Amino acid sequence: MTWLITGGAGFIGSHVVKAMAEGGERIVVLDDLSTGRPERLPEGVPLEVGTVLDREVVDRVLREHAVTGIVHIAGKKQVAESVAEPLHYYHENVEGLRTLLEGAVGAGVTRFLFSSSAAVYGMPDVDLVTEATPCAPINPYGETKLAGEWLVTATGRTHGMATASLRYFNVAGAATPELGDDGVFNLVPMVFERLTAGERPLVFGDDYPTPDGTCIRDYIHVEDIASAHVAAARRLAADPGASLVLNIGRGEGVSVTEMVGIIQDVTGRTDVEPLVTDRRPGDPARVVASADRIAEELGWSARYGVREMVESAWAGWQLRHP
Ligand SMILES: NC(=O)c1ccc[n+]([C@@H]2O[C@H](COP(=O)([O-])OP(=O)(O)OC[C@H]3O[C@@H](n4cnc5c(N)ncnc54)[C@H](O)[C@@H]3O)[C@@H](O)[C@H]2O)c1
Repeated sequence: MTWLITGGAGFIGSHVVKAMAEGGERIVVLDDLSTGRPERLPEGVPLEVGTVLDREVVDRVLREHAVTGIVHIAGKKQVAESVAEPLHYYHENVEGLRTLLEGAVGAGVTRFLFSSSAAVYGMPDVDLVTEATPCAPINPYGETKLAGEWLVTATGRTHGMATASLRYFNVAGAATPELGDDGVFNLVPMVFERLTAGERPLVFGDDYPTPDGTCIRDYIHVEDIASAHVAAARRLAADPGASLVLNIGRGEGVSVTEMVGIIQDVTGRTDVEPLVTDRRPGDPARVVASADRIAEELGWSARYGVREMVESAWAGWQLRHP
């Protein structure tokens, strides 16, 4: 098979490219470089610079590289930005996906993997979030991911395409310092930023109904995300009728206080007292994946723990902020 990986020059995409290339898959990347960096790609992996919204580009890339499967990772991912610019998010994440799927159907592509998110669940009121937990996104970003899943499943069903939507929980870490996350939108880089600026790390609310009062999340190493894609791609290749929706998480909750403590330990800044501020609107108390279905379907489970995520992310942060 030849796989097109959209968004392959981004944080998660570049890890998926690396893992799939090392797994012996033939790969081509389509990326508009809006947030991606070409130097993230390993040597020998062709990069086509363009947007998934451009049907001519999509058709040409699928044809010229004889693509048989697509891993669609490209997308916009900032919750606050999606609230400010919903039309832009629906255009990029839903219309971009629709255009890509239309091209895929036209080109006879029969395998399609989609980057979804735990944001589809919104504020789940359960201990462990299974794929059967009702989806009720609370921001346009999560809505575009849920609409994307529907689009992928419906297209697969009608046009004979094996599909998988992978719901990532809180992604952190890096395979190598060069592949680290450039953005400062998640807890780990946000704490790095505060600590390196000589400021106290912020904790948004300590009065949640959790053991230490701070929010609990399921952090997952980006290398584990990548290995789950390798497993899912193999499954789709072997099973033309597959129609999967899978959580990618560790099934283990870590509180903000615990995470900040690990970050302070790894960065050697245990002397700084975190600063508790108001809750942020729309932060659920606890979002932890059940990772049972992906284990059953793909035989996959996470390998890395939180400390490895923080250590590898810190190496990347130091590289970019010398
Ligand atoms: N980072 C997370 O914690 C997280 C969690 C859940 C889901 N996701 C999803 O994973 C995907 C990748 O996230 P990331 O953290 O690697 O973000 P990122 O911004 O690093 O990567 C996105 C990549 O897509 C490219 N891109 C954006 N719009 C494009 C377009 N229209 N056409 C072609 N390329 C385009 C960007 O240049 C970039 O290389 C996104 O779809 C995101 O919603 C991320």
